[in-house]
Amino acid sequence: LNNGLARTPQMGWNSWNFFACNIKETLIKETADALVSTGLAALGYKYVNIDDCWSAPLRNLQGRLVPDPKTFPSGIKALADYVHGKGLKLGIYSDAGTFTCQVRPGSLFHENDDANLFASWGVDYLKYDNCFNLGIKPEKRYPPMRDALNLTGRTIFYSLCEWGVDDPALWAGTVGNSWRTTEDIKDTWASMTTIADINDKWASYAGPGGWNDPDMLEVGNGGMTYHEYRSHFSIWALMKAPLLVGCDVRNMTAETKEILTNGEVIAVNQDPLGVQGRKVHVDGCREVWAGPLTGKRVVVALWNRCPEAVNITANWEFLELTPATTVSIRDLWKHENVSGNAATSFSAEVHSHDCKMYIFTPVASAHSSSQ
Ligand code: DGJ
Repeated sequence: LNNGLARTPQMGWNSWNFFACNIKETLIKETADALVSTGLAALGYKYVNIDDCWSAPLRNLQGRLVPDPKTFPSGIKALADYVHGKGLKLGIYSDAGTFTCQVRPGSLFHENDDANLFASWGVDYLKYDNCFNLGIKPEKRYPPMRDALNLTGRTIFYSLCEWGVDDPALWAGTVGNSWRTTEDIKDTWASMTTIADINDKWASYAGPGGWNDPDMLEVGNGGMTYHEYRSHFSIWALMKAPLLVGCDVRNMTAETKEILTNGEVIAVNQDPLGVQGRKVHVDGCREVWAGPLTGKRVVVALWNRCPEAVNITANWEFLELTPATTVSIRDLWKHENVSGNAATSFSAEVHSHDCKMYIFTPVASAHSSSQ
């Protein structure tokens, strides 16, 4: 969507994966505080997104949405002011149906009123869900909210959460800033790998202004190992997915924090070229994922889906690198350069379910003629 936003994938936090409906304004404020104190905000995680369950079960007599008075007694405007005061942005949630998935009022046929209300509160981001949709096609239900947000005059990020049911990559580029390509992620290796593969199919439709969304991060929620979470974060970054943290950032372990604050991996996600990396080679449970970056660089992930440690090889022919291009290699998890250059292939030993991630940079050679 050409609204000036999402030139690179959005980064931030969302309440759903860890807290579900157990949300309240103090949690949102403490999360904003923690995003700043942990250094996550400075790395680019700027959207603080409230998911389902912020709203009271009924609209008021004027037909307006009302924040749940028990959990959000100060209202959303006060929360937006607080979050803005920290240099962050506030996101909210609604649904392109008659109710949200947790049966709060939905915005279908209330698009203009609700968009105006969100804008008057100072909201910066809307996640728009797909429950209770009356069987109307998403292509019909999602554009009215885009137009309503646009009419408010406030610049609001528009995140489509249509779960990939009607192949949104094919039509949402002019509707939203990102579109979910799959059903909900679960905090398991099986779910994460399945979702990565589905999202990969739509790679060619992503770019600045509109991104494929394979759902929010589960890093730090306890259902996967350290190596599995490192794979999850590496592949989400490489495939230009939104990086929306889904854990309790007030209580992160050192390992969770190490993964989420890897600035070199984040820089791959936020590379201004904005090309979604993809699965470029499969050999049983050995996978190579790669994509182009600015400066003729290439990001390469060696992803081991096997139950044991294996050696994985990236050949230049998988990488769209001119044969015999000499590259220097940076290891983004070790934060060091790999010694020696490579010119035809590169191999490394990878732990079970781990992912190694590198940037290959072509080195100018005395012998290479100009292409
Ligand atoms: C379904 C969405 O896909 C989830 O991300 C979450 O927003 C829930 N609905 C909330 O009910």
